[in-house]
Amino acid sequence: MTQDYSPFISPQGFSNETDQVKDMLAQLDWDDARALRVNAKTTEFIKTIRNTPAGSSEIETFLQHYPLSSIEGRALMTLAEALLRIPDTETADALIAEKIGVSDWKHIGGSGFFGAASSFGLGMAKSMLEGFLSGVSKPVIRKATIETVRRLGAQFVVGETINSAIKIAEKESKNGFRMSFDMLGEGARTEADAGRYFKTYVEAVHAISNCNTTSLPLEDKHGMSVKLSALHPRYTWTQADNCVPEIADKLLTLAKIAAQKGITLTVDAEESERLEIFLDIFARVAMSSELKGWNGLGLAVQAYDRRCHDVIDYIINLAKNSGHFLQMRLVKGAYWDGEIKRAQVSGWAQYPVFTRKVNTDLSYLLAAQKMLAARDVIRPMFATHNAGTAAAILELAGSNRSGFEFQRLFGMGQHLGGILRHTENIPVTYYAPVGSYEDLLPYLVRRMLENGANTSFVSQIRDKNINPEKLSRDVVEVVKNNLEKPLSLPLPRDIYGTRQNSKGYDLSRQTDYKELLSQIIPSPLRGEDQSGADINSIFLTAQKSFADWNATPAKTRADILRKTADLIENNTENLIYLLQSEAKKTLFDAISEIREAVDFSRYYATEGEKSFGSDGQILKGPTGESNILKLTGRGVFVAISPWNFPLAIFLGQVSAALMAGNTVIAKPAEQTPKIAALTVDILYRAGVPKNVLHLVQGDGKIGADLVAHPHA
Ligand code: FAD
Ligand code: 2OP
Repeated sequence: MTQDYSPFISPQGFSNETDQVKDMLAQLDWDDARALRVNAKTTEFIKTIRNTPAGSSEIETFLQHYPLSSIEGRALMTLAEALLRIPDTETADALIAEKIGVSDWKHIGGSGFFGAASSFGLGMAKSMLEGFLSGVSKPVIRKATIETVRRLGAQFVVGETINSAIKIAEKESKNGFRMSFDMLGEGARTEADAGRYFKTYVEAVHAISNCNTTSLPLEDKHGMSVKLSALHPRYTWTQADNCVPEIADKLLTLAKIAAQKGITLTVDAEESERLEIFLDIFARVAMSSELKGWNGLGLAVQAYDRRCHDVIDYIINLAKNSGHFLQMRLVKGAYWDGEIKRAQVSGWAQYPVFTRKVNTDLSYLLAAQKMLAARDVIRPMFATHNAGTAAAILELAGSNRSGFEFQRLFGMGQHLGGILRHTENIPVTYYAPVGSYEDLLPYLVRRMLENGANTSFVSQIRDKNINPEKLSRDVVEVVKNNLEKPLSLPLPRDIYGTRQNSKGYDLSRQTDYKELLSQIIPSPLRGEDQSGADINSIFLTAQKSFADWNATPAKTRADILRKTADLIENNTENLIYLLQSEAKKTLFDAISEIREAVDFSRYYATEGEKSFGSDGQILKGPTGESNILKLTGRGVFVAISPWNFPLAIFLGQVSAALMAGNTVIAKPAEQTPKIAALTVDILYRAGVPKNVLHLVQGDGKIGADLVAHPHA
């Protein structure tokens, strides 16, 4: 279908965020005069927006009173996210009771959301809670809450069907706007889901093309946005061999119909772990000879992603090599919270996204500068609701105000969109979701996070306490002022404070993945069967060694466990090999298990040092009494572990017992002797004396003998 094109390769590892910010500052063409002009224009935009009489939307009104930092804001988000998916009324009622019960709903009134809701929904829910809890008014409240949540979602949806959405589009066309319809649906979990979403897209392309005025140029016609996660149930880098060609086929089919019908098709950007396969799929389609002469293919690029500028260079080159003029939508990125959480849970060295809001703003400007300079091969589409960002784009565009456009989401940034279209005379497109509530939920949660975050422009513009001058502050200056200040988010490895998070790998980055694979090496260690071992003498040595080990300061034992954790991390490649060859683990499971073992060691070290310290814990008690709780070891422990977590459970048992001052006889599962041998070797290297820890290999018989031994 297509000629090969070199894939996008992420730079190996990550640089430090502040270094990257300095680098971006050096590349951005910015000076004081520019800053002043942008500042003046932003202030003008903000004043106009605030003076525009049209009332706030329901969600804006709600989040103004109940930001996401409040219990109520979070309660509503949980209701919005979960309520309609709950199949039984009992659970739905329990959720409503929990969420409404903890909240202090004030009656906001007015004709908007709460005006209406107060007569049947959340506004009255608190006052009726007693009745609700006693069961009297349960069906009424449930219905009202569901209705309220539906209305909330409806704000972001242009229509439930493409035909109803097109009616709105026809009206908005007359006002000078075009639409990029987004057929709601993402994260397909089954082939059936993916098939359903694909069918909806195909039908939508036809419907959209039918409503377009044929004489308009491509970029002025309504188009469509597509999420690749809707097209395949296994859209993940681990399945790249299958999903990349399969999704590319589907996308090409859609693109061919769009080309034939003369509409644009933009591919949304999703989670950063998908970036490389996303670009691979996109490049395959862009290079297809079957799309010759069509310039409607586009994609979204996220400025918060730390690879954003590499991606832009890659796409500009792709446009040159494919012979297609490509559409490039620049967004800041909608998955920030998820990206941060995933990096933390995974223990990555750095976050894949910027962690300071203004750093993303700066990245956006630098990206815009690159894109505006490449207007001969791409069409920049600047998706933002931020008046400051829009003013800066106009400044960067200079006197050449053609060949680009602004974009906004349906239900957001309406006034700014109007100004950009009618006062600044730049084309504006709406991203217009179409579909039913069931398919809206993840999208709705992202919009609530975006509207409710106190750093977001849309939430601040509603706040009259923030004056326009403050809101229009120069991003570059703020970034510079922050350079020497520590970032507010700890790195993923430091999130636990008292102990280090275990080291993880972002293997969605091909280079890092290949590097790790190349380092996996067979371990030289052997796991000898010791079924004939002299158990009595082992017990005797362990018993004799107990007193000294128990008297070893808890800090020394804790330091040994910390060193064990470090050595496990340093032996990751050996351990992966053994976990895969002996325990048949997948790469992911092997890494997770290694991380669990590291976490065990560090956790027991931290907690054990507190609990087993020689000073003990002073207890509160009556005057005149001094009560001190001291914990000590108990003697010889036998640690018998299963084969399914041959490293983590094995080490967890052993390290907990050692930390508590016990000596240990460890008997691993007979299926995984080498892993145990390496683990014990690591413990010795970390400083556990050999007479304190004894490894006994063998089958269940030897395990039974150990357990039955009178000194166990
Ligand atoms: P601002 O308030 O200026 O910026 C908010 C953004 O800043 C957040 O969304 C986040 O990206 C970033 N941010 C917030 N806090 C931090 C922090 N602590 N550190 C670093 N960065 C931070 N998003 C996608 O991911 N993929 C898409 O395909 C996509 N398509 C879109 C299409 C259109 C037409 C539009 C308008 C938006 C689209 N979005 C998409 C959503 C978009 O990412 C958000 O609407 C956008 O981030 C909001 O930015 P802003 O300039 O309007 O607001
Ligand atoms: C999202 O789905 C708009 O693509 C963006 O959040």
